[in-house]
Amino acid sequence: MILKKLCVLFLTFAALATLAARAPAGDQPASPAPASPPARVVNTPFTVLGFNNLGMHCMNQDCSELLILPPYNTVRAQVIDRTHGSPEIVTSGITLEYAMPTNTRSSDKTNFWKYLPGLLGVTIPPDVGLTGNGLSGTMTRATGLNYYTVTGIPVTPIEDNGRENPYPLATITAKQNGVVMGTTQVVVPVSWEISCNICHNEQGISTATDILRDHDRMHATNLENSKPVLCAGCHADVALGAPGMPGISTFSSAMHTAHAPRMKQAGLTNECYACHPGVRTLCQRDVHMSRGMSCNDCHISMAAVGDPARRPWIDEPSCGSCHQAQHPTWEFEEPGKLYQDSRGHRNVLCASCHGSPHAITPTITAADNVQAITAQGHPGRIDTCIVCHSEVPSDPFPHRRIVD
Ligand code: HEC
Ligand code: HEC
Ligand code: HEC
Ligand code: HEC
Ligand code: HEC
Ligand code: HEC
Ligand code: HEC
Repeated sequence: MILKKLCVLFLTFAALATLAARAPAGDQPASPAPASPPARVVNTPFTVLGFNNLGMHCMNQDCSELLILPPYNTVRAQVIDRTHGSPEIVTSGITLEYAMPTNTRSSDKTNFWKYLPGLLGVTIPPDVGLTGNGLSGTMTRATGLNYYTVTGIPVTPIEDNGRENPYPLATITAKQNGVVMGTTQVVVPVSWEISCNICHNEQGISTATDILRDHDRMHATNLENSKPVLCAGCHADVALGAPGMPGISTFSSAMHTAHAPRMKQAGLTNECYACHPGVRTLCQRDVHMSRGMSCNDCHISMAAVGDPARRPWIDEPSCGSCHQAQHPTWEFEEPGKLYQDSRGHRNVLCASCHGSPHAITPTITAADNVQAITAQGHPGRIDTCIVCHSEVPSDPFPHRRIVD
């Protein structure tokens, strides 16, 4: 509701600005292109558009007994040179720096680093993540890709001032020869609202011990005596690049299949929020949520997610499966690729314009709308040509990646 009002406000400002620009030229024909840029359009030489690959990264705060997922965030960004005729996706000659201004340290917020040697057999300095990156640093570009990435940022949902915030903003700055050419702010979503305790709550023991004890009883394992336990040590997990043990179910399949018939016990409207974050965090916070859609409108059911024939983290829903019908000539996901890896409009990543999965703009969270508002004056998909083009193209907008 507030969002709608905001949109209307921004549109009104934009319309007023256009009218004002036209007013002095009263008796001349109206130009199709606005005489001056709409209010608050990005005015740096480069446009930087960033996003998180997943839309939400879960992590365990307390790793002393078991670890499902470590602190591990991945941010990507495209840089577009908008200074000459047609926009150019920049892939060399720049440095891209990232920082988390409100969240500069993690080692006092989780005991991850203390238990890491027991879990993964490695030791890493505090505040450094599993791929060697910290809470600030430089992004890199892999050969063949037209965007920059930083993987494994070990960010937690507690800001330095103690406030819980699953949607902290990172700043990304593009520099050329030390000169700032463009900048953006992007949400680095992280949550430890993993509510196993709704059901695993036996008196006198911790939730983790309850879980390990159930596992030992039901599968003749000895996990309670092997703390800290890495679930992916036996159950294959793409998210951690863990191969698992032969003959044992994947972690995703084990969790969803076993729990599918148990979910009534949680008493939640959205059963997924028993383990995914969550009734407070609302990780699915996007335009689909505003339109009344929920997890199972796209993911079908717990049992379907747990189907051992599915490849976890790879066989995900696709935008095209629903939207192609309305736009038969458009391209959606590239063949064999996830949304997060796909490109549209002349090789601009889908997520550069539409946002992260589960945070397809406009979102109900203010932070996820910041980038679009800063770039073009209103939230929602990047639909303002001069965010990237030096002037409004006379040709219509081709949504397709490939030249028609
Ligand atoms: C809706 C209730 C509910 C939630 C939420 C829940 N569990 Fe369970 N879980 C159960 C029940 C019921 C059992 C079976 C216990 C028994 O029979 O003694 C179980 C058993 C297990 C087992 C034993 C192995 C097996 O065959 O299932 C593991 C491991 C487990 N849960 C892990 C978790 C983890 C990790 C979470 C949170 C990410 C979680 N559970 C959340 C209800 C739940
Ligand atoms: C030492 C190896 C090992 C570890 C570590 C391990 N598991 Fe298991 N798990 C098994 C085996 C073996 C089974 C039964 C066979 C199967 O499901 O493939 C099993 C079964 C399960 C099941 C029931 C699957 C089903 O379809 O009924 C769940 C749920 C589960 N594990 C969750 C977990 C969680 C959560 C952790 C981390 C706390 C964990 N496991 C750690 C070996 C392990
Ligand atoms: C009992 C706890 C639990 C519940 C309830 C649950 N999940 Fe999960 N889910 C997990 C865990 C744990 C992982 C992380 C697995 C990993 O690390 O690979 C996961 C990962 C996933 C993944 C990514 C991996 C994959 O298989 O592609 C999807 C998608 C997913 N869940 C969808 C859902 C949906 C949709 C629901 C509700 C219908 C749901 N989950 C309910 C525990 C749960
Ligand atoms: C299960 C079907 C389904 C999937 C999968 C799906 N959508 Fe949608 N989407 C919808 C529906 C239904 C609406 C609401 C349409 C309406 O209200 O007219 C919608 C609305 C939207 C809108 C808002 C359109 C508007 O009118 O403002 C955008 C943008 C969008 N989807 C993008 C995506 C993207 C990007 C993906 C993939 C990450 C995706 N959708 C995946 C069904 C789906
Ligand atoms: C509008 C459709 C839609 C809805 C609603 C939706 N998802 Fe997804 N989900 C997707 C798509 C599309 C992907 C694959 C994204 C990609 O390409 O990275 C995905 C991927 C995932 C993944 C894998 C990690 C990732 O983000 O790629 C998890 C976990 C997941 N969804 C859980 C959920 C849960 C839990 C809910 C509800 C709280 C939910 N989803 C609601 C479409 C949806
Ligand atoms: C340069 C920015 C840009 C890129 C890149 C982009 N889109 Fe779009 N997208 C738009 C705009 C603008 C619209 C509205 C266009 C229209 O309605 O004619 C749109 C519309 C959509 C819709 C339709 C929603 C509705 O209203 O029915 C979907 C779904 C969608 N895009 C998905 C994608 C996917 C998937 C990709 C990557 C393959 C992608 N987009 C790449 C800007 C972009
Ligand atoms: C997020 C950045 C971005 C936005 C926003 C954007 N474009 Fe583009 N556009 C590009 C890039 C990059 C190219 C590729 C230029 C090249 O290859 O020379 C391009 C190319 C084009 C082309 C040339 C197509 C061809 O290859 O023949 C047209 C036409 C175009 N855009 C129209 C539009 C219109 C109209 C809008 C506004 C509705 C728009 N674009 C918004 C980035 C963008």
